[in-house]
Amino acid sequence: MARSSSIYVCSACGHEAARWEGRCSGCGEWNTLVEEVRAPARGSRGKPGASASGAAVTPRPLAQVPAAEHARLSTGIGELDTVLGGGIVPGSLVLIGGAPGIGKSTLTTMALANLLERDRRTLYVSAEESAAQVRLRAERLRSDGALRIPVIAETALETVLATLEQERPEVCVIDSVQALHCAELSSAAGSVAQVREAADRIMRIAKALGIAVLLVGHVTKEGSLAGPRVLEHMVDCVLQFEGERERTYRTVRAVKNRFGSTNEAGVFEMHDHGLVEVLDASARFVAEATRAAGSVVLCAMEGSRPLLVEVQALVSSSELVPPRRVASGLERNRLALVLAVLGRHGGIGLGAADVFVNVVGGVEVDEPGADLAVALAVASAAKRVSLTAGSGTAPLACFGELGLTGELRTVAHAERRLAEAAKFGLTPVLEPGGHGNLRSALDAALGSQRSAKLAA
Ligand code: TYD
Ligand code: MG
Repeated sequence: MARSSSIYVCSACGHEAARWEGRCSGCGEWNTLVEEVRAPARGSRGKPGASASGAAVTPRPLAQVPAAEHARLSTGIGELDTVLGGGIVPGSLVLIGGAPGIGKSTLTTMALANLLERDRRTLYVSAEESAAQVRLRAERLRSDGALRIPVIAETALETVLATLEQERPEVCVIDSVQALHCAELSSAAGSVAQVREAADRIMRIAKALGIAVLLVGHVTKEGSLAGPRVLEHMVDCVLQFEGERERTYRTVRAVKNRFGSTNEAGVFEMHDHGLVEVLDASARFVAEATRAAGSVVLCAMEGSRPLLVEVQALVSSSELVPPRRVASGLERNRLALVLAVLGRHGGIGLGAADVFVNVVGGVEVDEPGADLAVALAVASAAKRVSLTAGSGTAPLACFGELGLTGELRTVAHAERRLAEAAKFGLTPVLEPGGHGNLRSALDAALGSQRSAKLAA
């Protein structure tokens, strides 16, 4: 049998070389050569681009194409099913990315255990941990299915592919794609060439045999999937597992989904017996809100669902030049922008103060709708005035984007945010609909509190 061999292809110009070179001799670019496996030629002499048989095919209108029925496989984890768009599509490739320790192995093990309890054939390929380590995790999950999951601890890609072909599971977890190694490539496991080759070959076998594959992938510190972005293009669905390891709350978000919306997000909490779905996140965050100066409730959106979260700020005089600006749970540049607008248009200059802002519970909000909450929390901390809603006991809830000229801009899903706040008695909500600019919002939030204090 002719053996396939590896060659090096320039990712910039496509030039091919027999061995790795630092600089492409085709286009002169540095570090662009990537290793690739070349299957032996099968003696076809067809023109480039011709299909195997060379015969033309007749295109047909889309309406005549039979609609594909996606009978979904439920993972038994409601939040995960929602993010996937209603469960796993048979034969699909799902990439689950997340930082080490966030709970990727736990989530995928739980999903397999549930599928197995529903009589689905499953397989867990552990390329990172020994089978004994996988068992230890499964024991913590306290589910019957978990200990019955068929597992192989294997890093050789060829062995994994052969096992898939032999076992033909309906759902398979590969944990992780970066730990697999293809013997035909000389580069190390985890390199771009290796990860691409592994994903490509797994995808081909999965599509051919109708195996749904959950590929686990690591992300870099910057939050993108390590190695090749090309993986994201190959798979049907990319899920991002976010949150901080030290905090309890974690979110799973779809950043790409060929079979559903990318607006969905699921909230989980890590317990000592696995991940638990948090269905009443708003209720918890509101109950835990401190109502102290520097605290405000933000009506945020987690995907297509509203979520009430507490935003806290601390302002203290600084010894440093420039002073500290620390943001957790939101983007640092967004905080800088809000502070600049507060100084210029809100009359609250904090040039000589350290400012810390925290979204409580480890929740990440990356939407402009959080601007007003950040501004109010900081203003409330700076003025040492606590903010409450109309009745005086409930914490103040708000949302809205700040424009550079100090205006308040409307954000998406205002009705859903308002309804969520109303559900927890946080009315009236401070939002762009009722206030045109930052100054009037500040007056409404801080001013009414001051007059209430004087009256008391
Ligand atoms: P893990 O799923 O191994 O994370 P990843 O695969 O993303 O690297 O687990 C993450 C952490 O969660 C690990 O430090 C142990 C902890 N953990 C629990 O707290 N409770 C549990 O039931 C399990 C299984 C793990
Ligand atoms: Mg893991």
